Amino acid sequence: MNLHTMSLRALLFLGLWHSGRRSLASAPQLGDQPKKIAVIGAGIGGTATAYYLRQEFGPGVKIDVFESGAVGGRLQTVKMGDYEYEVGGAVIHPLNLHMKHFVDKLGKSDHFQNTYISLPLQYYIIYNYFRYFPRKDVPSKIAIFNGKELTFEESDWFIINFLQCLWRYGFNLLRMRMWVESILDKFMRIYQYQQYGYSFSSVERLLHAMGGDSFVTLMNQTLEETMIGEGFSQVFLNDFVEPITRVNYGQSVRINGFVGAVSLAGADSGLWAVDGGNKKVCSGLLYSSKSELIPAKVTSIAVKVRPSKSGAAASFYEVNYVGEDGAAHSLYDIVMIATPLHQGKSDITFSGFSPPIPSHYPGRFHQTVTTLVHGLLNVSFLGTTEAASDFRVSDVLTTASEVSIINSLSSLDPVHIPPGYKPSPASHRKVWKVFSPEPLTQEQLKSMFLSWDSVSETRWLAYPAYSPPQRKTPPFILHKRLYYLNAVEWAASAMEMSAISARNLALLAHHRWHNQDSKIDQEDLHTRLRGEL
Ligand SMILES: Cc1cc2nc3c(=O)[nH]c(=O)nc-3n(C[C@H](O)[C@H](O)[C@H](O)COP(=O)(O)OP(=O)(O)OC[C@H]3O[C@@H](n4cnc5c(N)ncnc54)[C@H](O)[C@@H]3O)c2cc1C
Ligand SMILES: *[C@@H]1O[C@H](CO)[C@@H](O)[C@H](O)[C@H]1NC(C)=O
Ligand SMILES: *[C@@H]1O[C@H](CO)[C@@H](O)[C@H](O)[C@H]1NC(C)=O
Repeated sequence: MNLHTMSLRALLFLGLWHSGRRSLASAPQLGDQPKKIAVIGAGIGGTATAYYLRQEFGPGVKIDVFESGAVGGRLQTVKMGDYEYEVGGAVIHPLNLHMKHFVDKLGKSDHFQNTYISLPLQYYIIYNYFRYFPRKDVPSKIAIFNGKELTFEESDWFIINFLQCLWRYGFNLLRMRMWVESILDKFMRIYQYQQYGYSFSSVERLLHAMGGDSFVTLMNQTLEETMIGEGFSQVFLNDFVEPITRVNYGQSVRINGFVGAVSLAGADSGLWAVDGGNKKVCSGLLYSSKSELIPAKVTSIAVKVRPSKSGAAASFYEVNYVGEDGAAHSLYDIVMIATPLHQGKSDITFSGFSPPIPSHYPGRFHQTVTTLVHGLLNVSFLGTTEAASDFRVSDVLTTASEVSIINSLSSLDPVHIPPGYKPSPASHRKVWKVFSPEPLTQEQLKSMFLSWDSVSETRWLAYPAYSPPQRKTPPFILHKRLYYLNAVEWAASAMEMSAISARNLALLAHHRWHNQDSKIDQEDLHTRLRGEL
C-alpha cells in the first residue's frame, strides 16, 4: 500500500506554510476586544482552539479551558510493562498540515526560557521528558482476514504486491489512489483559505469552499454508492475498502463518502505519530496559548444580558461548572464548545436561548473498544499455517463476516521508540491492539492468544455512527458568540478535522466580533486566490 506520491500542489502548500502571509489576514481593528473566552474541552479540538484564539485576539484576552476528564480527550495512552501505548487516535497523515505545524512549532520553542508561571506543575514535568518530534518509523506489513483465513498478505517485495493486486482487482487499486488524491488535492485548499484568514459559518459551506458541490454530495452519499458510481467493483469494495473503513471507523462502506475518502487516505504511506504520545500536543498547545486549564465539568451555559458602559445592552455567557471545590460559575464574552453534543459524550444544558439549543443533537456515536494484550498470539487463529517465528504481519485488517468478532488486530509499538528497537515476530510476547465493536470476552481472548500477562480495555464512543444521507449537520454557530467545534465530525472525525475546525472557529469568532463580513463565507475563493500563490 505504498504507491503514494505527493502532488505538486501539496508540496507547494508545504512550502507556503512558513511564508508568513498570515500577517495580512486579519489585522485587528480598533474597538473593544473580548476580555474572557471559555473553551469547553481540552482534546485536540479545544486546545487547538485556544492556540488559534490567542493568535487572533492577541495577548490581552483571558482564555479558560474547561476539562472534566484528561487533557487529550480521545488522544490517550496506557502504560503496559515499561512502555506507553496509544489507545485512541493513533496515526496522522503526512499532509495534515495543522498537526505538522503544531509539532514543528512546539518542537522549536524553548519552554524554559518562557517565564509564564501560572500553569500547573504537571506541564513542566511533561516538557522535561519529551521533545516534540514525529515518532521514529517502524516498518509495517498488512494482511486481510475474513474470519477464517488470510485473504491477502503483503509481501516484502513491492512488485509482488503490485502483481497480486493487479491480478485480483485489475486497476481498481491504482484508480483508488488517483481518486483519493484528487479529493486530497481539493481538501488541501482549506490551508490556503485559512492562511488568508477566511472562515466559514457551517460545515457545508466549509466543504463547499474546498471541493464545490461534489464535496457536499460526498457527505450525502455512502462511500459504496460513491465508489460504485466512480466505476470501482463491488468485490474490490468488500475485499479491500471495507477492511480500511473497519479499522479506521469501525464501520462498513456505508459511511459517507467524505469520511470514507479520509479513511482511505489513512491507508497511505508516510503516516506518523507524535514521539511520546499524540496527547502531548494538547498540553503543549494549552501551554503555548497561555490559557488556564480549569479541571471541571461544565454543566450549563446561560445567556445573560447586562447594560454595558456605553448604555447598549451586552450579552454574556454564564458558564456553570463543577470542580473539586464544588460548583461555580464565570461570565465570558465568547464560548467555544469543543466536545460532541451527543448522548453519552457530554451533558451541557443551555438556558435562556431563543431558539433553544439542545443538549444533544440527533445521531449517535459509534462504540469502538480498544483492547491491548501483552501476550503470545495464536497465529492459527488467523487460519495461517505460517510458523509464528516467521509471522511478521503488523496489521491484520478484517472483511465483514458473521464470524468476525474483531475489526482489526495490530502489533503495537510504544509511543516512544527506544534506540535499537526492532519489531519482533509473533513467536515473542508483545503488545497487540485489538479494535472490536464489543468488549472481548475471556473466551474470545483465549481463542486469539495462547497466553497473556496483562490486558487493558478502553471503551470509546469513538466517532459518529455515519448513516448518510446526512440530515442537517449541527451548526458551528449556536448563538451570537457561542460556537460548536465538533459539528465537523459529521463530515469526518480525525485529529486534523478538529484542528481545521478550531482554526475556522477562531477566525469566525474574530471576524464576527469585529464585523469583518468580507472574511466569512466568501464564494469562489479557489479562483480568487489562484493568482496569489
Ligand atoms: C479508538 C480511536 C481511534 C482513532 N484513530 C484516529 C487516528 O488514527 N487518526 C486520527 O486523526 N483520528 C483518530 N481518531 C479520532 C480522533 O481521536 C478524534 O477525532 C479527535 O481526537 C477528537 O478531538 P476533539 O478534541 O474534537 O474531541 P475529544 O478528544 O473528545 O475532546 C473533548 C473533551 O471534552 C471533555 N468534556 C466533555 N464534556 C465536558 C464538559 N461538560 N465539561 C468539560 N469538559 C468536557 C472530554 O473529557 C474531552 O477531553 C480515533 C478515535 C478513536 C476513539
Ligand atoms: C489456536 O487456534 C486454533 C484455531 O482457532 C485452535 O484450533 C487451537 O486450539 C488454538 N491453540 C491453543 C493452544 O489454544
Ligand atoms: C442531503 O440529503 C438530505 C435528505 O435527502 C437533504 O435533506 C439534504 O438537503 C441533503 N444535503 C445536501 C447538502 O445536499
